[in-house]
Amino acid sequence: MIPNDLNTFLMPFSANKEFKANPRIVVAADGMFFKSSDGREILDGMSGLWCVNAGHGREEIANAIRDQVLEIDYAPNYHIAHPKSFDMSNRLLEIMPEGLVPEGMSNVFFANSGSEAVESALKIAMAYHFARGEDQRTRLIGRVRGFHGSGFAGMSVGNIESNRKQFSNLLPEVDHLPHTLNIEEMGFSKGQPNWGIHLADELESLVTMHGADRIAAVIVEPMAGAGGVIVPPKGYLERLKEICVYYDLILIFDEVITGFGRLGAATASEKFGVLPDLICLAKGMTNGTVPMGAVVMTENIYQTLMAGQPEGIEFFHGYTYSGHPVACAAGLAALKIYKDEDLFNKGQILASYLEEAIHKLKGHPHVIDIRNIGLAAAIELEPRDGVIGVRGFDVFRKCFDEGCLTRVTGDILAIAPALIANNGHIDMLVETLGKVLRIVD
Ligand SMILES: Cc1ncc(COP(=O)(O)O)c(C=O)c1O
Repeated sequence: MIPNDLNTFLMPFSANKEFKANPRIVVAADGMFFKSSDGREILDGMSGLWCVNAGHGREEIANAIRDQVLEIDYAPNYHIAHPKSFDMSNRLLEIMPEGLVPEGMSNVFFANSGSEAVESALKIAMAYHFARGEDQRTRLIGRVRGFHGSGFAGMSVGNIESNRKQFSNLLPEVDHLPHTLNIEEMGFSKGQPNWGIHLADELESLVTMHGADRIAAVIVEPMAGAGGVIVPPKGYLERLKEICVYYDLILIFDEVITGFGRLGAATASEKFGVLPDLICLAKGMTNGTVPMGAVVMTENIYQTLMAGQPEGIEFFHGYTYSGHPVACAAGLAALKIYKDEDLFNKGQILASYLEEAIHKLKGHPHVIDIRNIGLAAAIELEPRDGVIGVRGFDVFRKCFDEGCLTRVTGDILAIAPALIANNGHIDMLVETLGKVLRIVD
C-alpha cells in the first residue's frame, strides 16, 4: 500500500529526510481514527490539522460533493455566479456572532485556504481605508508568535522565527505586538490566564510611534494555535478592540483554527464576546474535505467598499476558485452536521473533561507548562540540551508509534480532537502522552 517512491513529493512544513527514512503513512480514515499503512488504528488527536471538526468520513459531505460535481462542477463567480456561493455565505453569516456591534457581520468573501483568507482580509482592510479617502493607512500590525499562513503578507504579519528566516524579503511597514505567553506568570493556567491584559497596551505605543492615520489594520489569532496554543489573557482581546475602535483601526481576528467550534462556540469572537471588523475562516468550514477559506466582514466595511467605487468593480481581488461550487456544497453539508449534531455545544462539554485530563500530566518529566482552552491543549517541554525541537519531535514520533496523532511545533505538543470525541478518546490521548513522556529522555 506504500507508494514506491517517496522522493518526488516536497512535503510542506515537514522534515522530509526524516519522514522518508521513517514514513508514517495513513491510508484510510473514519470517525476519530486513521488507519496506517501497516494496518494500525491511529487516534486522530489533531482533527487532521485543526480541520476535521466533525470527524472523518462523513457520508453527508461525500454525497454533497458528488452531487455537486454532477450538477455543476465549476462556474466562476466573476460577473456571473452560481447559487451555492450565496447559500454558503448566508449560512455562514447565521453562525457569526450577533449584536456585539450594531450592524453585526453582513458579508462574506471566499478564498481557498487560511493563507488566502488572511491575504484577502488585509486587502479588504486597505481597500476600506482607500474607499474612505485614507489611502495613507497602509501599515499592518501583527503579533510575535502569530501564524497567519504561508503567503508573503501572512508571513509578514505573522512572526514565528523559523518560518521567516529563509525569506527575508517580507512586507515593509509591519510591526508586531508582543506575544502573551509568560510561563513564569501564567504557567499551568486552565483556560484564560489572569495575567497579561497590559500587553494589549503596546498597541497604543505603536499608534504613538507611527500615528493612527498610517495604520490600516491589526491582525491576531484570538488563540494562537501554531505558535503553541497561546490562550488570550482575560480582558486582552477586549482591550485590543477598545484601542482599535478609538483609533479607527480595522481589527482582524484570524479564526482559521478557532472557527467552527474549536473553543466551544461557533467562533472565538462569540466565545470571548469581542467582535472584530473582519474574521478569517478556513479549515473546519468544509470539515477539511475541500479547500476553502473566507473573510466575514461587518456591514460598515461592505457598504464602504460599495460606496467607494460609483460604478464598475469595487474590489480588485479574487481567486479562480473563490466560492467554488464543490467547496460550497461541502461547506453547506459540514455546517448542517455542526448544527444537527449540536457539535459546538458538545465540544464545550468535552472541553472541561479535556482540561482536567491534560493537567494531570503536570509533574511528568520535562513538562514546563500545560495550557488549554476549548478542545485545544498544549504541553510545553524543556528543550533537550538547549536544542529546540528535538525532544518535542521525539515525543510526537513515539506518540504516533503508540497510536496517537498529535502536533509538534518546537518542543510544544498540541492536541485538538474533533468535536465528536468522547471521554475515552481524551483518556487515550492523555495516557499515551503520559506514557511517552515517561520514556523519552
Ligand atoms: C491561524 C491560522 N491562519 C492561517 C493559516 C493558514 O491556513 P492554510 O494552511 O489553510 O493556508 C493557519 C494554518 O494553520 C492558521 O492556523
